[in-house]
Amino acid sequence: MNKYPFQQAPWWKLGTIYQIYPYSFSDTTGNGMGDLEGIIKRLDYLNDGTPDSLGVDAIWLSPFYPSPKADFGYDVSDYLDVDPELGSLETFDRLVDEAHRRGIRVIIDFVPNHTSEEHTWFKESHSSLDNPRRDWYIWRDPTPDGGPPNNWGSHFGGSAWEWDESTGQYYFHQFLKEQPDLNWRNPEVVWAMKDVLIFWLERGVDGFRMDVVGMIYKHPEMPDQPLDPNAPDDLRPNDIYGRQLHIYDQDQDEVYEMVREFNQLVRPYGEICLIGEILYFGADRWLRYYGTEGDGFHLPMQLQFMHLPWEADTIKSAVQEIESLLPAHAWPSCVLGNHDEVRLATRYGQEYTRLAAMLQLTVRGTPILYYGDEIGLENGVIDDDKIQDPWGIIVGPEFNRDCCRTPMQWDAGPQAGFSTSVPWLPISADAGERNVANQDGDQFSLLNFYRSLIWHRRGSEALRNSTLEILEGPPGCLVFERQVDAERAWIALNFNGNEVEIPFSGEGEIILSTHNQDIINLSTGSLTIEAYEGVIVSCR
Ligand code: GLC
Repeated sequence: MNKYPFQQAPWWKLGTIYQIYPYSFSDTTGNGMGDLEGIIKRLDYLNDGTPDSLGVDAIWLSPFYPSPKADFGYDVSDYLDVDPELGSLETFDRLVDEAHRRGIRVIIDFVPNHTSEEHTWFKESHSSLDNPRRDWYIWRDPTPDGGPPNNWGSHFGGSAWEWDESTGQYYFHQFLKEQPDLNWRNPEVVWAMKDVLIFWLERGVDGFRMDVVGMIYKHPEMPDQPLDPNAPDDLRPNDIYGRQLHIYDQDQDEVYEMVREFNQLVRPYGEICLIGEILYFGADRWLRYYGTEGDGFHLPMQLQFMHLPWEADTIKSAVQEIESLLPAHAWPSCVLGNHDEVRLATRYGQEYTRLAAMLQLTVRGTPILYYGDEIGLENGVIDDDKIQDPWGIIVGPEFNRDCCRTPMQWDAGPQAGFSTSVPWLPISADAGERNVANQDGDQFSLLNFYRSLIWHRRGSEALRNSTLEILEGPPGCLVFERQVDAERAWIALNFNGNEVEIPFSGEGEIILSTHNQDIINLSTGSLTIEAYEGVIVSCR
């Protein structure tokens, strides 16, 4: 009997998801910042129903809500509106309609752990000790010597507590002091945040990516956290967060319960996809987010890949681990880039971008792509005195995330076709060369390779929805097979800088190669593939 239920798989299992960082995708107002209208304008690029487009099945939009932008959208001051710089609710509704007309689902970011300090909830909470919303956030008295209530560090450096002179208490923030944490132990907060989900579900969204959701509940007593004996020695002095073991500030039992409640809440709205951003503190804590028999997150994101050395053996072990750990009801995902990490092309090198794309789109699970990776966008170069990302400013330039958020490069014209004025982050120097228009016209470009991969995947049950078996291969190669019923795909990825011979048994033909090898027939023997080459063979 097959371990996986192949029939009637929901769209989020079969499809490819594409993350858009709205501030940096396409600007139609000329203010140097992307907007929702810009996304509408580019929908045909994403999927116009033909292989001339990328062919993605869903977009995930990073926050577009009103925000003072202390953390560039992840500090929300109103969950029920659109930032006027990016559009309006009317534009959002049109975006959903236009996306749906093209068969593209819309997933939005939900930021449950913290609001902006500018949110009216926090302004009220902050106003006095007896304000009815005081307990919507986490307030504590100082210790007898006036210090913060515990030793917890903020993700963005320094203590997680901010002293409030006017009411004589500290409030808690796991990120910036401008991002106070909500108190999910207050049922009114839970109701208010569930109302937010319903508001957007009623507007037709198809899913939520839940930001640092594992952090919403803290241990009720908030005890001091122990130091991590394995913490690196070279951490910056204010990186308290990096020195601690995170056992009380996230992945508490109540979070898993709440994820179950989210799952219940979205069920009446159809095939809604719940994606969890889970910071990875071990397989057991992470796996629990799937719930039992599909009552948790559909896709607790697999962010692990991005932090592994880019070597065949390490990647192979990670794939193997996922295959052996996941219960039958759980479905993997594969993320190789996002708005918090070094760009894929910079992390691995341009010579590896096609191999990475092939891995991401052929391994079992839902691929979540990041805008610009399809043209090999590299990390932007930002001078230290120009850094805008608070993490880069407070802790150090090595944490600066501006570099992976630079504007999309559409053409060789002014501002790379992104905007008519100077963009909020600089356009990269290679934009004249590396852009969508150039790659569109070059049949061997990375963009056209992504298109071929995605469209090929769309037509192949073996690649979308089947088992995965790792096969023996030469050193430095990852070889695996995907199979469903009579359909079998054989994938070989060569991470080596030299050509290798890979044994192959059976009959088949190469249907896609990173190196544009001609379609060739194969029969038992071996196949020679080039340095950094990957191939997909359809087996007979
Ligand atoms: C998540 C987001 C990141 C943000 C943080 C705080 O990790 O991906 O961009 O800064 O949460 O909301």
